[in-house]
Amino acid sequence: MSMHPQFPLTVLVTGGAGFIGSNFIHYWHKKYPDDRIRNLDALTYAGTLENLRDIESDTSYSFLHGSITDKEFVAKAMEGVDYVVHFAAESHVDRSILNPQIFLDTNIIGTQVLLDAAVTQQVKRFHHISTDEVFGTLELGHPGKFTENTPYNPRSPYAASKAGSDHLVRAYGETYGLPYSITNCSNNYGPNQFPEKLIALAITNALEGRKVPVYGDGMQVRDWLFVLDHCSAIESILLSDQLNTTFLVGGETEETTNLEVIKYVLKSMDLPESNIEYISDRPGHDRKYSVDWSHINKTLGWKPSVTLQEGLTKTIEWYRANEAWWRPLKEQNKAYFTAQYQDRK
Ligand SMILES: NC(=O)c1ccc[n+]([C@@H]2O[C@H](COP(=O)([O-])OP(=O)(O)OC[C@H]3O[C@@H](n4cnc5c(N)ncnc54)[C@H](O)[C@@H]3O)[C@@H](O)[C@H]2O)c1
Repeated sequence: MSMHPQFPLTVLVTGGAGFIGSNFIHYWHKKYPDDRIRNLDALTYAGTLENLRDIESDTSYSFLHGSITDKEFVAKAMEGVDYVVHFAAESHVDRSILNPQIFLDTNIIGTQVLLDAAVTQQVKRFHHISTDEVFGTLELGHPGKFTENTPYNPRSPYAASKAGSDHLVRAYGETYGLPYSITNCSNNYGPNQFPEKLIALAITNALEGRKVPVYGDGMQVRDWLFVLDHCSAIESILLSDQLNTTFLVGGETEETTNLEVIKYVLKSMDLPESNIEYISDRPGHDRKYSVDWSHINKTLGWKPSVTLQEGLTKTIEWYRANEAWWRPLKEQNKAYFTAQYQDRK
């Protein structure tokens, strides 16, 4: 089941300058150095080429600067592509509440533009990265988990736009025969995550000597997936013959609240819980996500390699060692951080 299909592949990675995409490029490049990787990214606030400095001069890697919404640019980028691994998206729920329009443009229209080009070029596989947030929320105290059969019920503009993109991918599979696969994964964390997301924000705030914000009562339950485990899940799907299907991907996380995650981060950094600052909650904040990843486990043998504690320890180490990466990002986005957290106390 786990064989690299044919050497060398040309792999178009969209959003490869972002958090998960850049981790995936490094992961794939290391394991399959003969494959040609094209990284297509618009370099929004969330994308930085700093994530790829170490491989930028490799002949098997190239960077294409542009938007997935640009038809001509995408058609050209798609020429000769075997696999598409589609990460590019507006990805932050808070920002989707402030400005939904760009989420629809990028996540829905951008995906449709890519799909059209993929059909024209007859790519061998279109792998679409989505989120468990398309399923809505579970009730706290409810033992259930999301599965591949859970009905869609998105509750934020971000989740609705991702749901729309999932439907389009499946529709292109049915209508035009595009070979696709989809992963709906839980919250990722790990190296190179933009410091607006919970864990990266907590660690970097702690390193800066700032308070760590927690929305509402902090009792929201999340499933946490270490980013390299996400990469290995995508790999196992790409190497398999599983087509036109969906897999849920989650972490080795017992029911853990956001507050528990923050407390663990502070404890690991020898900081007191008094560093926590409660701020007013996000509107429509989903209470619980929990992912049943038994399907990918049974079908492809994939499972996460680290527990949440182990992954957090690695992540804290990375942010400690890479201040030069995250400090400028926080500085450049100061206005957003101030509006989102300082002004909500
Ligand atoms: N981070 C998570 O916890 C998580 C969880 C589930 C699913 N996902 C999904 O995984 C994917 C990657 O998430 P991430 O956290 O790495 O996101 P990210 O915000 O870190 O990176 C997104 C990348 O996409 C690029 N991009 C945005 N708009 C673009 C456009 N119009 N054209 C080309 N490039 C564009 C950005 O420049 C950036 O490099 C997304 O599709 C997201 O919905 C993320």
